[in-house]
Order: sequence, then C-alpha cells, then structure tokens
Amino acid sequence: MEVHVPEGTSIMRAAMEVGTKIPKLCATDMLEAFGSCRLCLVEIQGRAGTPASCTTPVAPGMVVHTQTERLKALRRGVMELYISDHPLDCLTCAANGNCELQTEAGNVGLRDVRYGYAGANHLADKKDESNPYFSYDPAKCIVCNRCIRACEEVQGTFALTIDGRGFGSRVSAGQMEPFLESECVSCGACVQACPTATLIEKSVIDIGQAEHSAVTTCGYCGVGCSFKAEMRGEELVRMVPYKDGKANHGHSCVKGRFAWGYATHRDRILNPMIRAKVSDPWREVSWDEAFAYSASEFKRIQAKYGKNSVGAITSSRCTNEETYLIQKLVRAGFGNNNVDTCARVCHSPTGYGLKTAFGTSAGTQDFDSVDEADVVMIVGANPTDAHPVFASRMKKRLREGAKLIILDPRRIDLVRMPHVEADYHLPLQPGTNVAVLTALAHVIVTEGLVNEAFVRDRCDWAEFQEWAEFVSEARNSPEEVEKVSGVAADSIREAARMYATGGNAAIYYGLGVTEHSQGSTTVLAIANLALATGNLGRKGVGVNPLRGQNNVQGACDMGSFPHELAGYRHISDDNARAIYENLWGVTLEKEPGLRIPNMLDAAVEGTFKGIYIEGEDILQSDPDTHHVAAGLAAMECVIVQDLFLNETANYAHIFLPGSTFLEKDGTFTNAERRIGRVRKVMSPKNGYADWEITVKLAQAMGVPMNYTHPSEIMDEIAATTPTFAGVSFAKLDELGSVQWPCNEKAPEGTPVMHIGVFASGKGKFVLTDYVPTDERTGARFPLLLTTGRILSHYNVGAQTRRTANVAWHEEDRLEIHPHDAEQRGVRDGDWVKLASRAGETTLRALVTGRVAPGVVYTTFHHPSTQANVVTTDFSDWATNCPEYKVTAVQISRSNGPTDWQERYREQAEQSRRIAETVEAAE
Ligand code: SF4
Ligand code: SF4
Ligand code: SF4
Ligand code: FES
Repeated sequence: MEVHVPEGTSIMRAAMEVGTKIPKLCATDMLEAFGSCRLCLVEIQGRAGTPASCTTPVAPGMVVHTQTERLKALRRGVMELYISDHPLDCLTCAANGNCELQTEAGNVGLRDVRYGYAGANHLADKKDESNPYFSYDPAKCIVCNRCIRACEEVQGTFALTIDGRGFGSRVSAGQMEPFLESECVSCGACVQACPTATLIEKSVIDIGQAEHSAVTTCGYCGVGCSFKAEMRGEELVRMVPYKDGKANHGHSCVKGRFAWGYATHRDRILNPMIRAKVSDPWREVSWDEAFAYSASEFKRIQAKYGKNSVGAITSSRCTNEETYLIQKLVRAGFGNNNVDTCARVCHSPTGYGLKTAFGTSAGTQDFDSVDEADVVMIVGANPTDAHPVFASRMKKRLREGAKLIILDPRRIDLVRMPHVEADYHLPLQPGTNVAVLTALAHVIVTEGLVNEAFVRDRCDWAEFQEWAEFVSEARNSPEEVEKVSGVAADSIREAARMYATGGNAAIYYGLGVTEHSQGSTTVLAIANLALATGNLGRKGVGVNPLRGQNNVQGACDMGSFPHELAGYRHISDDNARAIYENLWGVTLEKEPGLRIPNMLDAAVEGTFKGIYIEGEDILQSDPDTHHVAAGLAAMECVIVQDLFLNETANYAHIFLPGSTFLEKDGTFTNAERRIGRVRKVMSPKNGYADWEITVKLAQAMGVPMNYTHPSEIMDEIAATTPTFAGVSFAKLDELGSVQWPCNEKAPEGTPVMHIGVFASGKGKFVLTDYVPTDERTGARFPLLLTTGRILSHYNVGAQTRRTANVAWHEEDRLEIHPHDAEQRGVRDGDWVKLASRAGETTLRALVTGRVAPGVVYTTFHHPSTQANVVTTDFSDWATNCPEYKVTAVQISRSNGPTDWQERYREQAEQSRRIAETVEAAE
C-alpha cells in the first residue's frame, strides 16, 4: 500500500493514514513521540535492525513491513516482559475492556509468559489514594512515561518524574510525595494518558466502565472545554476531555474534569417551593401551582405598582437559549426592559470598550492564535487559576520562547513557575491600570514605535494624532506614573518596547481590568495599544478578554442587558425593535430598562417590587451585601431559580429548582466567541430543564412561547440576529462548534476578527485620562484589598464546594505581606478582621510575599467569609461594573469568626456530618 504524507511524519502516523495499526504503548496522538516501549518495531527494507515506528520519520520510497514473523516474535517478547511484572487481575480490574495493555497483549498474540511471575516485581507496591478523584497503583505501571510527558507537554506543571533507575524506576509525584501534597493540580492529563489502570478515575472504579456517551461543553469557566460525558445508564461515570474540542484539544482542568458531583448532591432542591413571607417556612408545591402563583404575583405587582415594577436577572451560567428566553419574557411579557445579567458585575466594560474601539463587543482571536504570539501581555488576569486549560496552551508557547509581560498587583503563578518566567512583571497599585497602560502608550508614541502604516490604513489619522498628543504629555510619562502606580519607570519603558517591537503581540486580560471604577477606560487603553502597534487582524495578536463564567459572552450576546437586544443592537434602534415586534406581536419599550444596581436602588426606594433571578446568587456575588439584602428584602415577590437554596433564596418567596448542564440541551459561547453544544446526558432531576421552566412561566403569564426544543430557540435567534444568522444546532452538530459572526459572509464562523477592516470601519482611539478611584486609603483603612479566584473553586463556590474540590481550599484566606502582618502582630494562620467602610468579615491570614506591601488579597468562594460584605458600591463610570478590585480596608487580629459566620460554619459542619452518616448507611 502506498502512502503520501508530509515530510517528517513518523512511520506510525503514516501507517495510520492508510488504516494500518501498529501495536504501541508509549505513543499517543496527544504527546511527542518518545520511543520507550519497543512495541511498535517495524522492518524497513534495506535497513538493518527494527526501529521504533513512532520515532522514525518516513523517507521517499521507503518500504516498511509492519507485520512479519520476526516482528511478531519480538513484540510478544516485549509484552511478556511487561506482563511478567503486572498483576493478573484483568477480570476484576476497573480498566477491563478499556485498557491499552490488555488490548495490545491480545493484538500481539500473547499466550504465555515464559519468565513466570515469581521473580522480582512491583506487585506489592503501595497505592496512592490521596487524590480525591483518581488513584495511583504503581503495581500496574509499565513506566511508559506517558503520564510524565502529559504533565509536562499538555498541562505544563512538571509535577511528575521517574524516581530511581532501571528495575527500580517508578513514577513519582513531586519528591515521592502523595499526589495531593505534590505540585499536581489534578488536571487529569496523566490519567487520560495512562494506558493501564495505574492512574484511573475513582468514579470508574466505583461505577464501572461507561456504556454510552455524549459530547458536551463544560459548565464552569469561559474556556468552554468540550467533554465526552461518559454514562452508565443514568449515572455519569466520568468526563473525558474531547480531543476534537476546538477550545481545549483534549485537555481539561480539575473543575470540568472531576468536579461534577454537585449535580447529584443531596443539597439540590428538586421540588418547587413557595411562601407568602420570607419569615414563613417553605412549602413544597406542584410545578403547576408554582407557575400559577408566580404569574399571579407578578401580575398583581404590575397592576398595583406599574409595569416597570418588575424585572429579571439572567446568569452567565445559563445557556444562550435560556438567556434569550428570559429577556424575551421581560420585553414581550413584562413589557419593559428591566433585564440584566451577572455579566454586569464582571465584563460589561469589555462590551462597552471593545465595541467603542473596534465595533464588536468581543475578543478578537481564537485560543489557537496564542501559538503564533511572540509577546504575551497579561493584564489583571490569573489564567493558571481562572482559565487553566488556556493557560496550559499559553505556557506551551512561552516555553517555546514567547516573551511575557504581566501587569498585576499580585505575583501570580505565571510570574515565575517551572519553565516559565515573566520578562517583566509590573506590580502596579490596585486602581492604577489606566495610568500604567497610558504610560506604555506614551513610550510607544514618544519613542517612535507606532505602526504608522497600520494606523493610517485602519484608523482615523486625525483621531490618532489627537490621542498621540495626549499620551505624549509629561503627566503620562513612566516617570510621572511611577509616582502613582509604584511601578519602576524603567520597567514600563522596557515592557512597552517589548510589546511594540517583539513581533506578534497579544493582550489577554481579565477582571483585574474590568472591575474598577475605570474599567471601561482600561479596556479602551488596551485597545489603543493594539491599534497603535498594529497588533490586530491576524493570528498571534489581538485583544482577548478572558471571560470568567462559561457563558459570559453568550449572556451579553443574547440581549440580556437592559439597553441591548441580541447581537448588541441598541434598544432605541427602530429597525432592530421592529424585527422583534413583528415576530412577537408586541410593542417594545425603546428606553433602556434598569441595571441590577438600579433595580436594587429602586427596590429600596419602593418602586421596584418583583424579580425573577435565574442561576445567580446576587447576595453573594454582587458588591455591598448589605445594600443587596436591603433591596431584596423590600420586594414583594422574589423568584429564585437555582440548583441549591443559595443565599439570595433567603429573601425569596418562590423557589424554582433548576437543572444542571448535564440535564439540558442548548449552547454556551466561550471567551473566543465559540458557540458549543450543551447536550443532555441525563433527565432533569427536578422534572424540567431550565428553558422549559421559563417557557412554562411565560405561558402562565399569558406570554406565548411554544418551543419544543432549544434548537427552535436558536433558530429564532439566528433569524433575528445578523451575527448569528448562520448558526443552527444542525451546523453545530456538523462542525462541532462555530465562532460568531457566523452568517452568509462567514458560514463556518470567524476565528479571527477585524481582518482587513474593523467591524465599525475604522479603529477608534479614545483618550484615556487617568482618574484615581474615589476609594482611597487613609488612616482608618490604610490597605487596599483586591480579590480573585483559585483554581479548585468557582465563583461563590455553590458547585465546587459541593464536590471533593474542598480538599484543596477549605476556606478563603487573606493574603497579607509579611511587613504589613508584622506591623499588626498577625502571624500566618491567625484569625483577622477585614474591615472596610461597607462592612467587616473575619478570616484567617496567609502571610506571603505574593502580595506587595499595602495590598491584601482574598478569594470569595465561601459564604462563611462573604468577601463582598466589605466591597463598596463604587462602580465603572460607563457600565456600573462594581469596583471589586479596589477596597480600602484595615486588618486587625481577631478572636475568630463573627456570629453570622459561626452560623454558616455550623450549618456547613452539620451538612457534612449528615452527608457522612448517609454515605456510611449507603
Ligand atoms: S493530574 Fe495533571 S498536574 Fe497532576 S500529575 Fe497528572 S498531569 Fe500533572
Ligand atoms: S502511570 Fe501509567 S502512564 Fe505513567 S508510566 Fe505508569 S503506566 Fe505509563
Ligand atoms: S478550563 Fe474552564 S472550561 Fe475547561 S475544564 Fe476547566 S473549568 Fe471547564
Ligand atoms: S509506541 Fe513506539 S516505542 Fe512505544
């Protein structure tokens, strides 16, 4: 058989192309060839010996024999050696039927083991069960190195090594530590790579091998990884990262891979409940009664207080279809535009800033683009914790030699970690992003580093000149900015030169950019840098917001902001409104509705009385908890639709149990505008998928909604939204996923935007005056608090706290610099009071040099901490995105948790004890 393949292709790969399988154990298509197992030997005509086909490249005219008697004998011999030191427990092994060693033993025709099993072996080696999700049984290890290479090449953590030599070789996590105590971040890449049951998911051991599967999209972060959900009956066995997934290419992190146990957690509420007053006990009711009561309450409120007295909040955890339905319910049913989304509190400045600069409210690149970046600039993002799978991709590029600039008050892992070190870390004071980014622009302009050809071609030259004049002012020089930001002027100058002259330069940013009073200005300052240097419109460059939740992009795309219809068309746009008015048979309000903070203000003032909240725990996730609580308490009907009785539900009158992403069909749109399918793999445990609940609620309110499947909702979105015109479930099934815009001009989607021309025609330079936040430190509150996420937890932790991920992060800790700690007599592990002008909470201190003097940091994953008790009501000037990242605080030693915190701890302890008792009984 003849085969034509590109130069450099291995014999093994070439053989695969023509359907010839060569036995193998150490090779996999996810990893570089290694050539250690000696099972893939071949004979090459005219050459001596039997080279490994996985490491030998093809040559023109090469004649290869893959199956000869000599090869068969050699392979059987190799296999005999492996099996002579392997437990013969196939029938009881969890990998039985899905084990490459077993399969290849069959393929090479192994019938006997001449060496017997009595010699020296590893059969009694001790298992490591420390990781909550997978076990390591060295007795089954064939030392193929796949796990080690996966940890290095795919994940980039370098947690594994081979300890010992020759016969004594064994895989070791860290310095022969248990996995849980090592550097391992539990991404699962090694488990995925292992060809035996040495590294295997505990869920497979418990439940057994899967019988059927469906490809779906992770419900956690904005990377949007594809997974094969492997099922046994109605039970999820494991989530296997999908190799053809275009966002993750077969990789995963601990959350998507393992932290799905919350879906069947006993805390889930499965029946609707109502109560007349929040002080009453909940009463379980039928779905019909819950829908009828909800409808009658909202109608009563509107009749009494007017049609603008009610609204809804959608969540970035909802599917696109669910979000679209909720905004439709509000606009067509409630008759107002009082709909907002939790994206308000994270990436609304991205929408505003990127639309202003480029004409589209979205990131410019696909993730693959980073493979061609020469300089990576990360601003206010912590990808290894918050976007881990993309971080692994980025780390790979950095190991290949791309340069790295980090703007962050905190020394995030990427500043220095195995095989990655930032060229420049600019540890700016929280709240000074705009000053530092404008200073970078100052250097680029004043040192003649502008890409003039690009600017003349793609932007308005006069506008550029005005901007160039502004950034050149002395007040924007690195030397002046050093005084406010604390960043050395030299570092700013050198980083600017690197960004402007280092080749393809890509900016990735996160909530450290947006969650500021100047969040929108910061996004504009980032866009200015990319415009001035021509780093837009091709692979390897761009401006890329790293979205927090799985469907932040989609929530924004689907018209759930009070001023925008789907596809970012302003509600005052008569043509856009007419499309929906004709389709829905209603007249739409042309004035924008209330944003979340306005709804809460109006509630406190007595004019806003009813709210429908799907999938969002605003009491925990929104700033100034006391104000949120006051707003909710002032309402007459709060409907919460969620998986668990969250903190907001304490103020609810109606609780509608929600469904997990495993129980419904739909789509999520990730940070690269990629629309991916969410597929139902089990029946909704609460009876209805979330989209069905909204449909039934709408019907009870007399709003016609007659969808029978989410694909019909997507059809309506496509029919009414130009950027989604080419999207359908059929196309997603065919292509796997597509990136919008997807329409007649781009039927298969748009990986890189703004090639040749911006969506808005010309790229727009905007002047970015630095205005210090009103949140100032002083004698009472001398430190600045900034917040963030940790890898193992997700936002307010409602899901991840109900999984074994608590093994990594049982509580939120306050990071404080040793100098600040010493001044206050605080030692590592001490309880400290964290107080701001908004409120106070108590947590334990972690004394660390990761934060600069004057800055403290915490996560917000645990309700017993409620970091947002201390955050203030300051917000972005353009979008009201809260200023989570800058709060003036004081730290002092404390005797322990406050009373309300103790109550949470007791509740958590009680549910843990109940869980243990039930588990023991089971
Ligand atoms: S789980 Fe991931 S980080 Fe941990 S050892 Fe395996 S590959 Fe490395
Ligand atoms: S643990 Fe698995 S992947 Fe790693 S060397 Fe052993 S058999 Fe190979
Ligand atoms: S990186 Fe994000 S999308 Fe991917 S598995 Fe982890 S949480 Fe899920
Ligand atoms: S697969 Fe080629 S040497 Fe292992």
